[in-house]
Amino acid sequence: MCGITGYVGHKNAGPILIEGLKRLEYRGYDSSGVGVIDLSTGHIIVRKTKGKIRNLEELIQQQNLPVSRIGISHTRWATHGAPNHVNSHPHADSAKKFLVVHNGIIENYEVLREELQHQGSVFVSETDTEVIPHLIASLYQGDFLDAVRQAIVRLQGSFAIGVLCADHPDTLIAARVGSPLIIGVGKEENFIASDVPAILDRTKRIIYLNDGEIARLTCDNVEIMKFSGAAVRPKIHTVKFSVDAVKKQGFAHFMLKEIHEQPEVLERILKSYLKQEEVNFPELNLSPGQLKGFERIGIIACGTAYHAGLVGKYAIEQLAGIPVFVDAASEFRYRDPILDEKTLLIAISQSGETADTLAAGREAQARGAKVIAVCNVVGSSLVRESHGVIYTHAGPEIGVASTKAYVAQVAVMFLLALKLSRNSGRTVPAQRESIIAQLRQAPAAYKKILAAKNQIAQIARKNSHFGCFLFLGRHINYPTALEGALKLKEISYIPAEGYAAGEMKHGPIALIDEYRAVVCVAPQSEIYEKMISNMQEIRARKGKIIAVATQGDAAIKKHSSHVIYIPATHNILTPLLTVLPLQMLAYFIAVQLGCDVDQPRNLAKSVTVE
Ligand code: M6R
Repeated sequence: MCGITGYVGHKNAGPILIEGLKRLEYRGYDSSGVGVIDLSTGHIIVRKTKGKIRNLEELIQQQNLPVSRIGISHTRWATHGAPNHVNSHPHADSAKKFLVVHNGIIENYEVLREELQHQGSVFVSETDTEVIPHLIASLYQGDFLDAVRQAIVRLQGSFAIGVLCADHPDTLIAARVGSPLIIGVGKEENFIASDVPAILDRTKRIIYLNDGEIARLTCDNVEIMKFSGAAVRPKIHTVKFSVDAVKKQGFAHFMLKEIHEQPEVLERILKSYLKQEEVNFPELNLSPGQLKGFERIGIIACGTAYHAGLVGKYAIEQLAGIPVFVDAASEFRYRDPILDEKTLLIAISQSGETADTLAAGREAQARGAKVIAVCNVVGSSLVRESHGVIYTHAGPEIGVASTKAYVAQVAVMFLLALKLSRNSGRTVPAQRESIIAQLRQAPAAYKKILAAKNQIAQIARKNSHFGCFLFLGRHINYPTALEGALKLKEISYIPAEGYAAGEMKHGPIALIDEYRAVVCVAPQSEIYEKMISNMQEIRARKGKIIAVATQGDAAIKKHSSHVIYIPATHNILTPLLTVLPLQMLAYFIAVQLGCDVDQPRNLAKSVTVE
């Protein structure tokens, strides 16, 4: 969602701030803006506009952005008020002394707005954010930090903010509650940003601001304190990935690049966690005894991560015999869940900043459960709030449609199931060894499926005219069907529904005719024949079938218009492979339809508000 960058140093702030925004484009936005303190006049100058960052650049070409040494910038994903130039950030107070960029939602903004209007503040936008600069201005008596601190304790909701004050042209203030914000520590320059890619080409030294902390940045100092004023000694992390990881490197889209990175992601995960055929999660923070003591497992997540959780349920129950429930985090947090210290709660999130997942994790902890994060982002809120973590090691994922992060989450779920299975008596060592041996083949299997790129692109071209897609799968590939449908609808806007194939006759079969395409995930498995029966029912109603099947299954051709093959693997591991053709199909259909693959409309990479 909204992206923030901020700069204080000795260079011209404007170009740095715009460059930073470009690196945050993946978060999803509908307008953008930049504000600086003019080096020669000391005045606050703002340029903002609707639409893409290139619109902002065009505006700056026409209206010039003065040279400055300090500034803030923002990409807005509209919540309160339409995506237009007035509602874009930064926002200022009536006297244009304070300038604010904000990510999050101020829940009590109406009360504050009324109060401030009575005191004479004149509001120009429909946003909740605008109360912040007015509030700071109303509390300001010469001490910038103090005014911000007094203001933020009155805000309810979630926020990450960057604040400038024309009286203090050397100081940038930032604070957070519930929305992500990092500080980049440079040489005689410092930065704030919503995420690391924004500043990766400037510095790799990062401080993750915690909830309830406020930071004062000058060009040569970063000072962090609690809202109460108590000083905090910050931990500076050095980011390992290079700036290339957040560039397209010759691929047409980030999504395509990330699809192609999946073999190396799998290799990295296996190398990190499989030691002499034993699974070891070094940051799990649970002793073998503790792990044995859990009587059930809960998995909470959103979107694609939720689908990975569903795969985890099948794998853990089958291999380890531990009952697992999987909830969408947004449902879990309000459903009064029954948990205790015998429940292990696994929160899966690529970003580690998804508002519902964070809230669900807190709810679970409050009810006595231990929370383990399965997360891709080091230092994210979820990781910091959880008892332990299993990193998914997928590297930065920029495409809004999650691909490599999902595959990494699924791989981690299998490893976790294998680890838990050791004490279960449900599997014998030979079974586990066989699954591990097949897991080790997964990167090579990925390369083989990727080699079928042209065939999948051709299938996509031939079928992109269908106005509706149904994705069917059974058992452990039911989540694959859900994920395939989600990918397609996210990036191509074609209505797509994922369903358990066994449920087809209870409703979705009504959709099927010659105008619908049905993607059937039908690899080798115990329920393969049942899947074939469903396919026959679809054919009888003239539905067009695209099947994903196991290499060597020639028979499936007679039931399908197109078949995409995956290499043979252990039945339980098939979701790891079957999802790849579906990612590629969605990608090529979206390209064929001329859609904005990496930044689909209305979507945000990281959903940091509820
Ligand atoms: O960062 P998270 O994994 O917590 O994000 C969860 C969902 O918002 C995310 O998976 C979303 O569904 C993706 N756009 C799917 O491609």
